[in-house]
Amino acid sequence: MKMNLSNRRGFMKTAAIGTLPLSMVELTFADPQQNFSFAHISDSHIQQIKGTKFVNNWDRGLIRAVAETNLLNPKPDFVVFGGDLAQLGKKEELDHGAEMLAKLNYKTYCVLGEHDYYLDLGAYWSELYGPHYYSWDHKGVHFITLNSILTYDKWTFERWPSDMQRMLEMAGLDNPNGSPFMVGEKQRAWLAKDLAGVDKNTPVVLFSHSPIQKIYKGWNFWTEDAEEVQALLKPFANASVIYGHVHQIQYNQIDNISFNAVMATAWPWPYPASYAQAKSFMPKLTVPMNRANPFFERDATGWQLIDMDNGRAALDYNLYDNTNRTVAYNPKTRQPEDRMFQSPQNRVSPQTHF
Ligand SMILES: [Fe+2]
Ligand SMILES: [Fe+2]
Repeated sequence: MKMNLSNRRGFMKTAAIGTLPLSMVELTFADPQQNFSFAHISDSHIQQIKGTKFVNNWDRGLIRAVAETNLLNPKPDFVVFGGDLAQLGKKEELDHGAEMLAKLNYKTYCVLGEHDYYLDLGAYWSELYGPHYYSWDHKGVHFITLNSILTYDKWTFERWPSDMQRMLEMAGLDNPNGSPFMVGEKQRAWLAKDLAGVDKNTPVVLFSHSPIQKIYKGWNFWTEDAEEVQALLKPFANASVIYGHVHQIQYNQIDNISFNAVMATAWPWPYPASYAQAKSFMPKLTVPMNRANPFFERDATGWQLIDMDNGRAALDYNLYDNTNRTVAYNPKTRQPEDRMFQSPQNRVSPQTHF
């Protein structure tokens, strides 16, 4: 039997405190009012095969995340779903995914992914989850979600013979007919206005689906106007961007902005060659990339519990078929680091995973 979630969290906290210098303990817990946690689930890619038949593997990934999140103790303050709830944006897929997400015992904030969007441009998603971008405040932190997967109007409106063709073109990972993601001028103007009313010392956390940075254009791990959005976050002492889409752990620091990617519940990108050899419902990959361990099918799928300690995000990755990992901001180096591999002073014993 795997370790209970609450025990694991308690153990990790105790272990971390035990190994931190006293000054850092005081810093971390200086204002307990501001310390809270939330869960983040992403990229479930619920896919209809026919009628009421859906790809079981993707269903199981989301069901597991919801069940494990509901067992958390202490309870997270809310849950964020990071986008790509559906595979091809169909009503049936969004409904089936929404039914599973509705089992969460917490208030849930949703981000729009390209797989939810490019069939009907987010119309049905909006019926389920409301506006495509919005903000809220919680315990001294300003949270924002953006629709970061827009692209040029010409590509969206003038190029494709059908809505489904448009969706299929954008759904491919490395399709040269795709188009770079962007936040766009309208949302950037909204964001500027939204942030104008926020004190510069207030921690800001922005949720997006695509990374608000330029990682790899060929796979659309990319946001065309990333720099313009980053410029709006620059005046803040402490800003974080948490994004889905890339289905893997990524972390980065650009000036004052910490970037953290989250896992998918469906499959990891890049995925092992073993998947490509069997009949699969994944988008066809034409540029394979090696993985560290190609023998775990579930390697690098899961969900994350995010601790907000004085406005800094620490991501505990709960991995379904691998050792759990934590990526947290290190105030000494002023960047996010993997605690296990980069901060030996914070190292905790290998965890029993779920
Ligand atoms: Fe995805
Ligand atoms: Fe995506």
